[in-house]
Amino acid sequence: MSDSRRTILVTSALPYANGPIHIGHLVEYIQTDIWVRFQRLRGHQCYYVCADDAHGTPVMLRAEQEGITPEVLVARMREEHYADFRDFSISFDNYHTTHSEENRVLSEYIYERLRADGHIAVRTIRQAFDPVKNLFLPDRFIRGECPRCGARDQYGDSCEACGATYGPTDLKNPLSVLSGEAPVARESEHYFMKLHDFTDPLRQWLRWGEFKEPTPASSDSLPLLPMHPPVQPEIAHKLDEWFGTGLQDWDISRDAPYFGFQIPGAPGKYFYVWLDAPIGYMASFRNLCSRRSDLNFDAFWGRQSEAELYHFIGKDIAYFHTLFWPALLYASGFRAPTAVFCHGFLTVNGEKMSKSRGTFIKARTYLEHLEPEYLRYYFAAKLGAGIEDIDLKLDDFVARVNADLVGKVVNIASRCAGFISRNFDGHLAVQLPQPALFDEFVGVGEKIAECYERREFAKAAREIMALADRANQYIDHAKPWVRIKEPDRAAEVHGVCTQGLNLFRILILYLKPVVPLLARKVEAFLRVPPLSWDDLKGPLLSQRINPFEPLARRVEPSRVRALLASAASPADQPNSGFGTAPAKIQEAAVAEPLLPSITYEDFAKVDLRVARITAAEYVEGADKLLRLVLDVGGESRTVVAGIRSAYDPDALIGRLTVMVANLLPRKMRFGISEGMVLAAGPGGRDLWLLSTDEGAQPGMRVK
Ligand code: 2FM
Ligand code: ZN
Repeated sequence: MSDSRRTILVTSALPYANGPIHIGHLVEYIQTDIWVRFQRLRGHQCYYVCADDAHGTPVMLRAEQEGITPEVLVARMREEHYADFRDFSISFDNYHTTHSEENRVLSEYIYERLRADGHIAVRTIRQAFDPVKNLFLPDRFIRGECPRCGARDQYGDSCEACGATYGPTDLKNPLSVLSGEAPVARESEHYFMKLHDFTDPLRQWLRWGEFKEPTPASSDSLPLLPMHPPVQPEIAHKLDEWFGTGLQDWDISRDAPYFGFQIPGAPGKYFYVWLDAPIGYMASFRNLCSRRSDLNFDAFWGRQSEAELYHFIGKDIAYFHTLFWPALLYASGFRAPTAVFCHGFLTVNGEKMSKSRGTFIKARTYLEHLEPEYLRYYFAAKLGAGIEDIDLKLDDFVARVNADLVGKVVNIASRCAGFISRNFDGHLAVQLPQPALFDEFVGVGEKIAECYERREFAKAAREIMALADRANQYIDHAKPWVRIKEPDRAAEVHGVCTQGLNLFRILILYLKPVVPLLARKVEAFLRVPPLSWDDLKGPLLSQRINPFEPLARRVEPSRVRALLASAASPADQPNSGFGTAPAKIQEAAVAEPLLPSITYEDFAKVDLRVARITAAEYVEGADKLLRLVLDVGGESRTVVAGIRSAYDPDALIGRLTVMVANLLPRKMRFGISEGMVLAAGPGGRDLWLLSTDEGAQPGMRVK
């Protein structure tokens, strides 16, 4: 080991308790876990804590929608999330929840310190209020027209069409996602953290990794720069912009009803979820300390802590972690993070994950079809230290895993192991024929370690695969399968296979942070204790090894196709977390991409009419269709509609629905259809004919 034993605490962002873990999340947990496992493999003391992010309006609304309390919901989600992480071998030392006593105590403590030192301002603000649901609306719960480009159905904080950012009050014709009603402006008192007060310590931190300038060891030596700068260059650039515009007060309160912690001394006010979420990192660690007498909370979080502290996060939450969070830590007398490591987002086949393309893949759905280590390896092979997005290209995924893990690495063992068991009674030779080649493999170790340390996992994977190629070339050249048939060359084969298995052992050690389960199987096969960096000190000789058993299966493209089919099935769709939104709006929140906008004139050409269904029957030979006869105010129309999966014909007779009355008649295989009835839903049994009030009369225009 090149450096002395370090003490390190690592976190990943806390996932929200209102939805499942998906493969987009997994980029971060896998990245963090590889780094943590690498540190442990090097012999450092490295703890990894996380928790569910339990608070906020979406959690409250989802619980209401499910008819359970938020407490029951967050307990269930935490179990589900934890099981997903466990099955991807994410090696948390603790997985807690922000809805915990530790977090309440710490959040109150930090808030009290801010208040006592005059860093809290109280002001009345006007906000959008849903008059039906009786609550203030978070920006994401308001949709309307973009004030810049006019695109419809945009969120209250930004426009997906033109990229503009704005406040919810800027939206034109806003509607509450919860009730579909126009929000009203209402005043309420809010609590703000005066972020500007912390400009200096934040700047010190960004420069030196601490809240103060380090004291030089002697008057003529410069202080050492930290091994990891507190933020990556791209984020430093962003921070310059944020400092340039001046640090704005941060609203840390929310009004009841809210699921969270009440603010002490402020009835009806709750801490905003983003206040207690990062404090959840500390709370999870404190919870771990309560079970581990060898761990001291202050040694990790105190201002004088010697431990290193790293937060892995997505680039979208950099502002929270590089300004608010360090300011909270400073204000309350705690230490600064050593560094915040941001990563980019995941795309699948070059595009945002999408339910209609079947690429919104939940962690659990993936596990039902494919090995977790394949994804771990693939992400590792793509990840660098920057914040650019990474793409899961599914063909490339299959090719890469098969070529690298199966074709290159495991192949080395399968080429050598049979000879050892068949010809040498399962024992390795007493010495290596080419110790220099072994040393060469060991020699690359520091370079690989450096790549891991700097989160350049793709580079590490390339180095390791180059060594795997080298090992395979060695075996190709030595041809044990030919030599074993020649008289007197058995000892040579014994040496070659022992050499091959020793090279394999080094490769598995290098890959162990990425594929811990494969490493465990190899440890069992070689009959060795858990591999660690110290194993590079010398080869494995003389001892007996177990008969070889296949260590990794190839990925079959058919399994990837099956995964995509499952991911696309309606049963597997993400819950939007949008509480009691009317079905139509909820769908929109997770819906397929919207069609291009049309003008009002285009819309006005569509003649929507109330129609009564007077007759309905199956269409022979068509398993999706029903033939309906509609009364549109004295005029009768026959329409063929694809709603058979959801409705029996008899149940439809007499019902009022909405139809497009001026669609030109279309000749179909089963006759002419003179219009179209409107229905909503993902399909199958979940299809609902749009209906109208009984007060409506056939033929009435729908506006
Ligand atoms: O963006 C998110 O998913 C948040 N739940 C992350 C919180 S990270 C931390 F601050 F707790
Ligand atoms: Zn716009």
